[in-house]
Amino acid sequence: MSVSLTCKSVLGCRRVFQAFQRRCIIDMSYSNHFMDHKRSAIPSSMKKMMVTKRSPNFRQAVSLQTVPVPTPSNSELLIRNRYVGINASDINYSAGRYDPSVTLPFPIGFEGVGEVVALGLSASSHFAVGDTVAYLNAGAFAEYTLVSAQKAVPLKDPQPEALAVLVSGTTASIALHRLGEMKQGETVLVTAAAGGTGHFAVQFAKMAGCHVVGTCSSREKVEFLKSIGCDRPINYKEENLAETLRREYPKGVDVVYESVGGAVFDLAINNLATHGRLLVVGFISGYQSESGLQPVRGATLPAKLLQKSASVRGFFLPHFLSEYSECVQKVMQMQEKGKILCAIDDGQMDEGGRFVGLESVYRAIDYMYAGKNQGKVVVEVNPSDI
Ligand SMILES: NC(=O)c1ccc[n+]([C@@H]2O[C@H](COP(=O)([O-])OP(=O)(O)OC[C@H]3O[C@@H](n4cnc5c(N)ncnc54)[C@H](OP(=O)(O)O)[C@@H]3O)[C@@H](O)[C@H]2O)c1
Repeated sequence: MSVSLTCKSVLGCRRVFQAFQRRCIIDMSYSNHFMDHKRSAIPSSMKKMMVTKRSPNFRQAVSLQTVPVPTPSNSELLIRNRYVGINASDINYSAGRYDPSVTLPFPIGFEGVGEVVALGLSASSHFAVGDTVAYLNAGAFAEYTLVSAQKAVPLKDPQPEALAVLVSGTTASIALHRLGEMKQGETVLVTAAAGGTGHFAVQFAKMAGCHVVGTCSSREKVEFLKSIGCDRPINYKEENLAETLRREYPKGVDVVYESVGGAVFDLAINNLATHGRLLVVGFISGYQSESGLQPVRGATLPAKLLQKSASVRGFFLPHFLSEYSECVQKVMQMQEKGKILCAIDDGQMDEGGRFVGLESVYRAIDYMYAGKNQGKVVVEVNPSDI
């Protein structure tokens, strides 16, 4: 009893303190905007992650700063982020590889889910304060983010599953269907199959009537892959990947959804079937290096492709924006109807516990790069109960 009283009084004190710190709601800078929040006014300052030094070492590159909460323009929404998604490419972004001309400091984080707390006049024709949205926009690693109303996807609830769809799910769907041209009865190899985009690739390939092979690094991931329909999960820490593919798939595989790079890319090329298509989705094994690359056997590539009439096709999501919105809607509906699993990894199994608060983005990235994640890595920025 005494403990709960103490907790209540501490919470009470904190609320009074926060109310004192928060920006008055009748602030003239917001006079042309609609703003409010269910429980509180908008604070004047917030935490935001900024890249202050270009480096693939996320901890060295990114600092957590206190900055003013921005005001939305006519067409923008101010989102109070509830969840943000972690992507392997966050360290490519911090290294400045997306846009080498960008000047320091610059914001980081690709995607978020949150609540609209303020918005401009034209944005109010489609959204209202209190709406829940998901978005894909640079600068998500912040307590509040400005997003163009055009880029926001309305959601019924602030579900982290929506985050898994925005980059990871759409990449798997568009790459496999459009670029991979996968057909019923073909064999599809997915590397990093238990990860954010990999677990979608496994499910889309299975739904297309393909035989699915998936690589991963633990027994727990093997069980997870079986549960989502992977026909042949290969734990490369316990089985030799090259030997297993040669022995069990002597004619090769028709499509490879390849995101590891280096030796795994070489091995996948060697195991392509006649008319096989290898989709270069990423090369995570190189991202932590200075160049961002992992060497591959380029000299023999033309001969190997020619001998099998095979092809290597690059895929980068921003080049497929014309199909993006439709794909988001399609995959979100599949998730709502239970036709696809959007697996979320919130760090519950990590030694440090769930990823809560913006500062846990650092830990979440380490966790992903240690190969510990199963599904999409998500950080809860602003838990609903504070
Ligand atoms: N082209 C695009 O537009 C696009 C869009 C989204 C993602 N991607 C790419 O898809 C890949 C996966 O991204 P994601 O965000 O979904 O990450 P993720 O798969 O959720 O996490 C990364 C996984 O990669 C595996 N991995 C294999 N070798 C690794 C290594 N040397 N270092 C670290 N991890 C390694 C690990 O799984 P195991 O330990 O089980 O092997 C790890 O769990 C990345 O290459 C990324 O760039 C590309």
